Amino acid sequence: MSRAGLDKDPREVAAMFDGVARRYDLTNTVLSFGQDRRWRVATRRALDPKPGERVLDLAAGSGVSTVEFARTGAWCVAADFSLGMLSVGRKRGVPLVAADALRLPFRDGAFDAVTILFGLRNLADPGQGLREMLRVVRSGGRLVVCEFSTPTWQPFRSVYLNYLMRALPSIARAVSSNPDAYVYLAESIRAWPDQRGLAELIAESGWSSVAWRNLTSGIVAVHRAVKPS
Ligand SMILES: C[S@@+](CC[C@H](N)C(=O)[O-])C[C@H]1O[C@@H](n2cnc3c(N)ncnc32)[C@H](O)[C@@H]1O
Repeated sequence: MSRAGLDKDPREVAAMFDGVARRYDLTNTVLSFGQDRRWRVATRRALDPKPGERVLDLAAGSGVSTVEFARTGAWCVAADFSLGMLSVGRKRGVPLVAADALRLPFRDGAFDAVTILFGLRNLADPGQGLREMLRVVRSGGRLVVCEFSTPTWQPFRSVYLNYLMRALPSIARAVSSNPDAYVYLAESIRAWPDQRGLAELIAESGWSSVAWRNLTSGIVAVHRAVKPS
C-alpha cells in the first residue's frame, strides 16, 4: 500500500487514493467523529447551488459531496483523477469525469460555480488548481473551498495537533484499507496554510471578494470567492 509525500507527486497521490477508496467514506466519518456530514452541508450552503445551475465538484473522490449539492436541483458533475475513487462513486448516480485538476478538460466559463472539498491541499500546485477553477467558471461565478485549517483557540490547537499526529494514524489502522495514507493526511494538514494564508492564495490566483467561515473551531474552514466580471 502506498502513501504520498508532501511534494504531492500526482502519481503517488492518485495511487494513494485508489488504495483508500473502498473504505474512504466510512473512515472519514469515524476519524471526524461524524462531523464530515456537517462540513458538507455547510459547504453546500456557502455554494448555494440553484436549480439548473452547472456546478463542478472538483477532487470529488467518490462523489459523496456531489450528491449533497445535486439535491438542490443544480446539475453537478464530480471530477477526480483517482479511478479507484470514481469507481466507488458509480453507485451514486451523478456524472463522473476522470480529470486532472491542474489541466481541466472543460471549456472556459463552462460552470456557474466550482467547489473543492478536502482536495486543494492534495494538489501538487494549489495555485495552478485555483487558476484552472477560475478559467472554467463564468464571470461572476462562485468558488467554495472546504479544507482543513488551523483551530482558532490555542489550547485546543495543541490537543488537536496531538490527535492528528498520534491518535489519528492508530484509529486509521483499525478502519482504513491503507492506514499509511492517514499519516500523510496528518502531515499535509500541519503543512497547510492557515485561514488567512489560504485567503491570500485564493486572491493571488485571480479570485475576488474572498471570505471564510470557521467550522468546528477552525479544524475546517470554508472559503468563498467570486470570479471578477
Ligand atoms: C481527501 S479526498 C476528498 C474527496 C471528496 N472531495 C470528499 O470530500 O470526500 C481528495 C481527492 O482529491 C483527488 N485529487 C488529488 N489531486 C488531484 C488532481 N490533481 N486532480 C484531480 N483529483 C485530485 C484525490 O484523488 C482524492 O479523491
